[in-house]
Amino acid sequence: MRIAISTGGGDAPGLNAVIRAAVLSADARGWDVLGIKRGYAGLLGDDEVVPLTRDAVRGIAHLGGTILRTTNRSNPFAYPCDTNGIITECDRSDELMDRSRALGIDAIIAIGGDGSLGIAQRLHEKGLKVVGVPKTIDNDIAGTLTTFGFDTAVSTAIEAIDKLHTTAESHDRVIVMEVMGRHAGFIALHSGVAATADVILIPEIPYRLSKICEKIRKRDQAGRRFSIVVLAEGAYPVGGSYSVLGPSLPGQAERVGGVAAGLAQEIQAHTQKECRSLVLGHLQRGGMPTGYDRLLATRFGGAAVRAVADGRWGYMVALQPPYINTIPIQEALHEPKRVDLNGDVVRTARETGISFGD
Ligand code: F6P
Repeated sequence: MRIAISTGGGDAPGLNAVIRAAVLSADARGWDVLGIKRGYAGLLGDDEVVPLTRDAVRGIAHLGGTILRTTNRSNPFAYPCDTNGIITECDRSDELMDRSRALGIDAIIAIGGDGSLGIAQRLHEKGLKVVGVPKTIDNDIAGTLTTFGFDTAVSTAIEAIDKLHTTAESHDRVIVMEVMGRHAGFIALHSGVAATADVILIPEIPYRLSKICEKIRKRDQAGRRFSIVVLAEGAYPVGGSYSVLGPSLPGQAERVGGVAAGLAQEIQAHTQKECRSLVLGHLQRGGMPTGYDRLLATRFGGAAVRAVADGRWGYMVALQPPYINTIPIQEALHEPKRVDLNGDVVRTARETGISFGD
């Protein structure tokens, strides 16, 4: 048996722990493991395919990033290609199938977010034997309670909010902090509630500037002269739409974000309070995975190899406590996971005085 592992899309803390656990579990069964570098680029001649031995994965469980590297521009169905100097998108999926056959690959473990799992599903429909492992710091994949990387991102955001509290309070300022989450507000919600933000803005609840300012003014009148606003990059006002950061490269998804600076200016203009903003950005994706993420990632790696052994093609591993189960990738992608507006986290946030700007 020879399997290959690929990591595609944005990285997430815990990827290396998945790779390590999958390699060791496969090796224990006497299987060969290959690592496809940079998504699927390694299979399409733009990078390498390397052997993943026990030695290759020694001492990596605690490291952020991915030893296989990654890209959000290696979709074999829309691969960037140069046609007379113009970069367009080409379907190179047949080439990928041929190349994996030539390398004697029996199955692929595809570790990725919704985009990469969508590609895995299409490759599965073409006949490739694929098992998925869900990965995203945004936690927006259905069917799994959480994805690894989410807990680390939330912890990073909490640490940042804690630090902002002391400086905001010293200066009587409003600080607007933008976190990741293009379509789902889990990072903003969980970090904001845990670190006691005053306003949390998420894509699931379009906001009104007047409501945000009302909350800030009320705090002022109560003697709390500073406020912390945590917003997901995909948050948007009622009747508006989310901000996009410049044009994307061919084959690259739309880059969402950049909303914090403008919102801070608007809040300042309406409240006459000094307002500052920051974008936490890729700090949320870097660094060591938390213990929770390391354990989840390791469990996912082991479960993915068991799924391969059981021939669960087109399935992905999913955390359904207390178990790691497998569910069809298609089912997970059918409806993306979003913040439950009637869930206890949102309700508790409201009951403890947090405003959602609505
Ligand atoms: O999908 C995870 C994510 O962290 C999103 O929240 C964010 O919009 C995106 O990645 C940023 O990706 P990139 O690093 O490719 O700009």
